[in-house]
Amino acid sequence: MRNNIVHFWADEQHYEIREIVEVAYKIKEIWKKEIIWENIWDPVIKWEKIPDWLKDIVSKATRDDITYAYSPSKWVDATRKFLAEQNWKITSEDIIFFNWLWEAINKIYGYLNRNARVLWPNPAYPTHSSSEATHAWSSHLTYELDPDNEWNPNLEEIENKVKYNPNISAILVINPDNPTWAVFSRETLEWIVNIAKKYNLFVLFDEIYEKLTFDIKDHILLKDIIWDVCWIAMKWLSKEVPWPGSRCGWIEIYNQDKDEEFAKFINSIYFSKMLEVCSTTLPQTVLPEIYKAPEFNKYLSERISKYKKNSDIVEEILWPVKWLKFVRPKWAYYLTVLIDDFLLVEDFFKDLKDKNLEKFVREISIWKKIDKKFCYYLLATTWICTVPLSWFNSPLPGLRMTLLEDDEQKFRKILEEIVFAFENIKK
Ligand SMILES: Cc1ncc(COP(=O)(O)O)c(C=O)c1O
Repeated sequence: MRNNIVHFWADEQHYEIREIVEVAYKIKEIWKKEIIWENIWDPVIKWEKIPDWLKDIVSKATRDDITYAYSPSKWVDATRKFLAEQNWKITSEDIIFFNWLWEAINKIYGYLNRNARVLWPNPAYPTHSSSEATHAWSSHLTYELDPDNEWNPNLEEIENKVKYNPNISAILVINPDNPTWAVFSRETLEWIVNIAKKYNLFVLFDEIYEKLTFDIKDHILLKDIIWDVCWIAMKWLSKEVPWPGSRCGWIEIYNQDKDEEFAKFINSIYFSKMLEVCSTTLPQTVLPEIYKAPEFNKYLSERISKYKKNSDIVEEILWPVKWLKFVRPKWAYYLTVLIDDFLLVEDFFKDLKDKNLEKFVREISIWKKIDKKFCYYLLATTWICTVPLSWFNSPLPGLRMTLLEDDEQKFRKILEEIVFAFENIKK
């Protein structure tokens, strides 16, 4: 090429949840093994049957010609009205629909001034972090979540980072969090909001798992505690409906009227949405009917109770393993297990019996972090496909799996095999 055409931050773009799938497919194809998919939360692929009442709502809507048309740039009218009615703090003008989080995130970070940085949690869901780093052409700015404190942040660290880096213009909170499961307390959230207020920042709040917690008496939504700070809440159909293939989500914007600069920023996002015309019409159209359906809440609580049962099994099997570190999931989807790398033998691939398989995983593991190597080892010995924690920018090695498995015996076996794999390569 005549010029360097590659974006300075192109190497930031990785999606390990999918990349490890390519490795797993190779293993499946060459070694004829059935893979146990624990890398991604896709209920439909895993086991969940989409109930008939939900299918009926969607299929009825497909008979209506209007669902094949463009929709308004911000939203389908009836839907934004429905959402605004649920929440007295916003009007329907404060809602914008997107085709999935990636689009919303790209627009939010993309339309920030290059020097305006967002402080985000670590470990973090990388769709946020890589998009923010790409926007700023710079490495991440993070606050640590502490596994010894149930993955809560160190609040003083957040304040110090904000205080001494004047470019920080917003704080990202993912609550409940992926991959750690952390669900922040009222005090933590109030502290973060107060810092935002004190230093005149806005707060970005990803609440995709909002309806899916268990074992928590008092799950706090930011709208319950924020009054005058500018903030954006992100909501999606993927997890709670569950309809990940809809790629449909929306943002709610709070307190636009309190800050001219913030309102201008939101307007730039809205205008960029107009350039694209609109989001997909069908999922938006059926959203109110799905949420209003009398079956919805019962269906949701049935699903949550299954995840809770799996969380009990996690505790039963992993708790006695003293050298394994995990924090019991308090919400529905993921389990993060930390691996103490000092405990692992240096070359754990050499014990693989199939030497071709050993060669294969060894070659793809060169220069890779210890937890990624462990995930490959797990794949090659148990066919269980998980995601290394380092991909979530974590300084602590570990792996993340889901709590989706519906077959209790199978779920127990998955956990036991993971423990057994650790045992095998422990010093
Ligand atoms: C915190 C968070 N936000 C947003 C998303 C996007 O969800 P999806 O890709 O299922 O639409 C995810 C997915 O795992 C997530 O964990």
